[in-house]
Amino acid sequence: MPASIVVGTQWGDEGKGKATDYLADRMDLVVRYQGGNNAGHTIIAQGHTLKLQLIPSGILYPHITSVIADGVVVDPRVLLEEMDGLEAVGVDPSKLVVSGNCHMIMPYHLEIERVTERFLGKNALGTTKRGIGPAYGDKAARIGLRIQDLFDEKIFREKLDIVLKEKNLVLTRVYGRLPLTADAIVEDYLRYAERLRPHVVDTSKLIHDALGDGENVLLEGAQGTMLDLDKGTYPFVTSSNPVTGYALASAGIGPRHVERVIGITKAYVTRVGAGPFPTEDLGLEGDRLGERGHEFGTVTGRKRRCGWFDAVILRYAARVNGLTELFVTKLDVLSGFETVKVCTAYRADGDTYEDVPPHQSLFHDAEPVYEELDGWDEDLTGVRAIDDLPKPARAYLERVADLIGVPIGVVSVGPGREQSLPAA
Ligand code: IMP
Repeated sequence: MPASIVVGTQWGDEGKGKATDYLADRMDLVVRYQGGNNAGHTIIAQGHTLKLQLIPSGILYPHITSVIADGVVVDPRVLLEEMDGLEAVGVDPSKLVVSGNCHMIMPYHLEIERVTERFLGKNALGTTKRGIGPAYGDKAARIGLRIQDLFDEKIFREKLDIVLKEKNLVLTRVYGRLPLTADAIVEDYLRYAERLRPHVVDTSKLIHDALGDGENVLLEGAQGTMLDLDKGTYPFVTSSNPVTGYALASAGIGPRHVERVIGITKAYVTRVGAGPFPTEDLGLEGDRLGERGHEFGTVTGRKRRCGWFDAVILRYAARVNGLTELFVTKLDVLSGFETVKVCTAYRADGDTYEDVPPHQSLFHDAEPVYEELDGWDEDLTGVRAIDDLPKPARAYLERVADLIGVPIGVVSVGPGREQSLPAA
């Protein structure tokens, strides 16, 4: 099992951290491959609850090397704060390594995102306002600053001066904000550099060598397939590629190493931020899913939009990621509904679509076609084997696997490790 990829199949928040935790014993390296501190996972360490946004949850296991690969955008201030937070509760962050090729989130990225989202008014994307989009934008425009730039003060200053000239014009002339000063940024970032230096390595070589030694590598995505810049509901997406293809580009390995592609799939669907969501339930059932599932964002605290399971997007996620198995999370949340619904197709503009429609307008207007299955009342949180689930819950899982054409590997019924139930 050299390389495995964990990928979100919906709009993020599927519970990817739980899969990492479940697989951790067998892993040597856990590699985060995209996004930045827009993602979030809550971990419980030594009795303390911590919210991590950048550092892979593998950090909790002393035998694991946690890696932040090239494709992640890093806010160094946030990264250092997370390391301090871990140390404060007795977790040693010294085995964390970061690629020098990671682009950095700079103070002007945060400032620009704040004003541009405001400027968009009712068309705002509802981003996490962490500077993610502006940082990836600069990366593509080839004016980004990378972690390795910190280790040559002259280069860092030069690059910063060039980019700041343009950013300050935009901030002052377009948005009427105050300019940022290079000296203040340099002072902060060079301070961060000293602390980051021991953690910065050639992560691509590290991962390659680990695979060569037969070590197990878990590549962990953030967000989800439908938030992918290319494969998601553009423009209501994040600015990077959660899909599995990008895991390879970011880690710097070829496809022949990958044996398992695990699609993390919530037993219903949630979304934060704006954009189309065909199975969104704005009524009592959606409210109930949100309440039972505690659906509030880890990063922004925003209430997540909720709806029924959507087999159309799951089939799509299976296809674009090459899923080998599903890890179904939060099945326990579906207890207590008389019937549970599964969307098997969409109706849009007089046609039926069993796959994601080819034009965004059709997706925006898509009406779900539901199949209703029997619900169950039993509390599932104490169940410890899939065979012991109530019959309707098993029937639901069978139907989901059948509609997607991918086997279910694990089903989780709660946050604890013992609540992740492997398929026989
Ligand atoms: P950004 O990633 O901050 O640019 O936000 C773009 C969109 O992705 C917004 O709709 C966010 O709510 C959404 N988003 C970003 N990260 C996450 C995540 O970890 N979970 C769920 N939604 C996310």
